[in-house]
Amino acid sequence: EAVRRKKLFAANDLAAKYYHHILMNTKVGEPALEYLKGRGLTPGTIERFQLGYAPSAWDVLLRFLTKRGFSEDFLEEAGLLSKSQTDPSRYYDKFRNRVMFPIQDAQGRVVGFGGRVMDESHPKYLNTPETVLFHKGRHLYNFHRARNAIRQTKQAVLLEGYMDVIVAYQAGVENVVAALGTALTPDQARLLNRNAEEIVMVYDGDRAGQNAALRSSEVIKETGGSARVVVLPDGLDPDEFIRKHGYEAFERMIRDRSMSVTSFKLQKLREESQLSTQEGRIRFLTEAVRIISELKSPVERESYLRQLAGEFDVSLESLSMEVEVATKSLK
Ligand code: UTP
Ligand code: MN
Ligand code: MN
Ligand code: MN
Ligand code: MN
Repeated sequence: EAVRRKKLFAANDLAAKYYHHILMNTKVGEPALEYLKGRGLTPGTIERFQLGYAPSAWDVLLRFLTKRGFSEDFLEEAGLLSKSQTDPSRYYDKFRNRVMFPIQDAQGRVVGFGGRVMDESHPKYLNTPETVLFHKGRHLYNFHRARNAIRQTKQAVLLEGYMDVIVAYQAGVENVVAALGTALTPDQARLLNRNAEEIVMVYDGDRAGQNAALRSSEVIKETGGSARVVVLPDGLDPDEFIRKHGYEAFERMIRDRSMSVTSFKLQKLREESQLSTQEGRIRFLTEAVRIISELKSPVERESYLRQLAGEFDVSLESLSMEVEVATKSLK
């Protein structure tokens, strides 16, 4: 078993090196290299993240790795080859014509890949399937590079995408990680909680991103961690925001504009509410009180309630009574 794992690591490592070589040194890799430079990545960054290119052919990696002693069915188990549907004795390269992002474990060993198309086709990203080494819910993209910065700053910055992480890291924000295309899992949250006092989520500014941030914040809370949220303007994701406004602006967003999960929930609720009608305002207040009731600390509760009371010109007493009603119905 240990021997087999070692061999799986070796196959993934060789694949990463080969994809990287194709990107950097070959003619077929040129469009992919242009693509990455066009997205603002420097040669140093491409090197540091070991980015690569999987050519369009069906058997480039297959030939490279079988020549080095790996069998086709082993490489399929490694997630690098796929089995033909029509002829199960035939295998082909799983990743074709994609920019390759190696995914490493906490020790920096390659365990899988994300591969991005360079046009609008689907799926945009193809990921390694679950293998003996690769568990989507357990690894975090860039964790091994970010760990020191996370410990030093006592803060982990959680983003959505590979490109977000790479662009932020290149810009000098080094405590950045991303989940691998799924909502944050308890395992991933615990990994961050162990290394950071606080997790700052900067998800995509679109609706999907904001909903994902909400779900992840629950997971962080349930695993005993503490989360804050940054909402980027205009539906931008961190990569787009940094390109448009620069990295100082991004750092400022993280430093000065992060909010508590409660404030985030209240802001989201506000945006979805009809505050121009009285019914809408009442519905908003009732729901807002329910959100505030989830807080354990009476001081925190009161501070949010005071804000609401002031803003909607209702008495703190009546809001507090609402809290009691909400707390009872929770039980
Ligand atoms: P996004 O759709 O926000 O893509 O998905 P992105 O990261 O901004 O990518 P670019 O900027 O268009 O290149 C966020 C993350 O969700 C996962 C990937 O991990 C991606 O980085 N994802 C997305 C997939 O796994 N598969 C997909 O088809 C799309
Ligand atoms: Mn190189
Ligand atoms: Mn998105
Ligand atoms: Mn995005
Ligand atoms: Mn993006």
